[in-house]
Amino acid sequence: VAPLKVGIAGLGTVGAEVVRLIETQARVLTGRSGRGIRVVAVTARSKGKKRSIDLRGVEWAKDPLALATHPEVDCFVELMGGAGDPALSAVEAALAAGKSVVTANKALLAKHGIKLAKAAEKHGGALNFEAAVGAAIPVIKTLREGLAGTGINRVYGILNGTCNYILTRMEQEGLSFAECLKDAQRLGYAEADPSFDVDGHDTAQKLAILASLAFGTKVAQSAVYVEGISSIAPEDLRAAAELGYRVKLLGVAVRTAKGIEQRVHPTMVPKSSSIAQVMGVTNAVTIDGEGIPPITLVGPGAGGAATASAVVADIADVARGIRANPFGRPIAQLRDTAKAPMERH
Ligand code: NDP
Ligand code: HSE
Repeated sequence: VAPLKVGIAGLGTVGAEVVRLIETQARVLTGRSGRGIRVVAVTARSKGKKRSIDLRGVEWAKDPLALATHPEVDCFVELMGGAGDPALSAVEAALAAGKSVVTANKALLAKHGIKLAKAAEKHGGALNFEAAVGAAIPVIKTLREGLAGTGINRVYGILNGTCNYILTRMEQEGLSFAECLKDAQRLGYAEADPSFDVDGHDTAQKLAILASLAFGTKVAQSAVYVEGISSIAPEDLRAAAELGYRVKLLGVAVRTAKGIEQRVHPTMVPKSSSIAQVMGVTNAVTIDGEGIPPITLVGPGAGGAATASAVVADIADVARGIRANPFGRPIAQLRDTAKAPMERH
């Protein structure tokens, strides 16, 4: 069987790890997919930048659009980030050409996910984005496939590794917010614009994607109430600790009689609760399904290796010919998101 030919746009924290993983896991991936996976072309902003990956024999496409429509590329992997161009036009072009797309770009999906899923539906390619929420945690597949037959009442958790890393180090080491953020950036956890992390928008984007999968509604970031952590100081965390609490940035999506309530804000959680034990870059997502006890998935929520793990799994699905409805059902069956008024819980 011919190998799946992959084109990767973006060779930063995640993209470089994806190239590395496809190379180092080649045998395993071929075994699992029934065919090889070959990176045939790549692109990034700067061709001359020194990178720690071996790109010998791999073509450099002149820009993301050229890569997305490259006749040799079967699967376009978008790892540049950003809700606008060039990510948007490149993904649209790849889908319009009937190619499959794999992306980790929650900003793009939260804003244009429905439009892109429609294009995938129309032209027959896959649109896979497991890495967009919870990095290595297979939460998209869990909601879309594992719990396909279960009604979901609530999805909530810690969805941003940068914020949880900052809150953990501020609490444990008394470091300033700015110092912790700098380390999160150095470790490759933070977004290119870290205000997306600390102001809660990244969590809101992820929550909007999870809510769509959980409740069968259209992704609507604008329906999410958002408050971030940038005004929290070590003294606030100490005060919470004295009362027996920890502060966590939570994203919560709940089915209510008035619609789907979606909110992101710092929350005091009892130190004895399991969510309070989630420290550092770790994420945790709890899913309350009808008739079954809650399911919690915990794992690394950011970083090159953790994210590449999910990206490569998505590529392997394309190689195996698996094509899921991106948001769990045909787009025509997704309901509009009625924004529920915020209620105190
Ligand atoms: P980086 O900033 O490390 O890398 C971005 C890459 O995209 C770089 O290689 C850059 O090129 C390239 N790029 C940026 N703009 C352009 C452009 N206009 N044209 C061509 N190439 C461009 O980002 P990450 O790897 O951290 O993130 C990539 C995506 O993955 C984002 O959508 C992010 O939200 C998502 N993600 C990241 C996670 C993480 O932990 N880092 C976790 C989960 C998702 P150059 O190298 O030349 O500058
Ligand atoms: N900046 C994001 C985070 C990357 O810190 O969680 C993972 O999506």
